[in-house]
Amino acid sequence: MRIDVITIFPEYLAPLDLSLIGKARREGLVDLNVHDLRGFTHDRHRTVDDTPVGGGAGMVMKPEPWAEAFAHVIAQGQAELGASAQPVVLFPNPAGEPLRQASARSLSEEAWLVFACGRYEGIDERVYEHLAARGCRIRLVSLGDYVLNGGEVAVLAITEAVVRLVPGVLGNPESVVEESHSHGLLEYPIYTRPASWTDPDGVERRVPEILLSGDHGRIAAWRHARSLERTRQRRPDLLASQGDADDSTSAR
Ligand code: ADE
Repeated sequence: MRIDVITIFPEYLAPLDLSLIGKARREGLVDLNVHDLRGFTHDRHRTVDDTPVGGGAGMVMKPEPWAEAFAHVIAQGQAELGASAQPVVLFPNPAGEPLRQASARSLSEEAWLVFACGRYEGIDERVYEHLAARGCRIRLVSLGDYVLNGGEVAVLAITEAVVRLVPGVLGNPESVVEESHSHGLLEYPIYTRPASWTDPDGVERRVPEILLSGDHGRIAAWRHARSLERTRQRRPDLLASQGDADDSTSAR
C-alpha cells in the first residue's frame, strides 16, 4: 500500500516511523511519503492561508498550493503504481463521516491513500471540486464529534487503524478477528495469569472459573454474553444499529 500525507507540519507524522507501522514500512508493506504543503508555495513567506471571502473569523487554506501539491503527489504515485492508478483522497475533517472499523477495513484494501491535512478554518472548497472533476475519489473522515486543531492527529489514528489490517502487518492475524468492533460488539474482558491475584488492598481477585475449565464451547458462550453485556452498558448505540456488523466506533 502507498500512503501520501500532505501537511504543513511534516514533523507531526514522525510517530509513523515507530512500532508496527514503522516495521511495516521497513518491510516494504507500506510506502509512506510525507509532503510539506509549504514546498508548493512561491512567495517569500511560504503562505498557505488567507482571510475568508465574505468575512468571518479565522483563516482559510488557499487553493493554489493544494492543487500543486496534489498534482505532484499524484504524478509521483502514478509513476510508481502505473498511469491509471487513482488514490482515495482522505480529508480528516470534523464534518466528515465518522471513522468506523468497516471503513478502516475497506481502506486497508486500497492500493493508494492520500491524506490532506487541513488547518485553520479549513481548505478552500474549490480544491474539493477540482479533485472531484479530475476523477479522484474523495472522502471526508472524522475521528469523532469534537474539534482538533488540524488533520495530523487524525492521520496518525486513521493510518494506524488501516495499516494494521493490511495483510502481513500484524504478527497474529487472529487478533483482529477477536477485537472490539470486528463483530459490531465491544470485546469481552480478558485475563492472564495468575488465576488468583491479591491486589495491593489485600483483596483476592480471581479469574472467572469458566475460563479455567478448558471447555471451549462454554468459554465462547461466556465471552459472547460478556461482549453483549459490555456493549449494552457502554455503547447501546451499537446494538441499536446491529445489522451493520463490523461497523462501529471507539476503542475497547
Ligand atoms: N480535524 C479537526 N477535527 C477533526 C476531527 N474530529 N476528526 C478528523 N479531523 C479533524
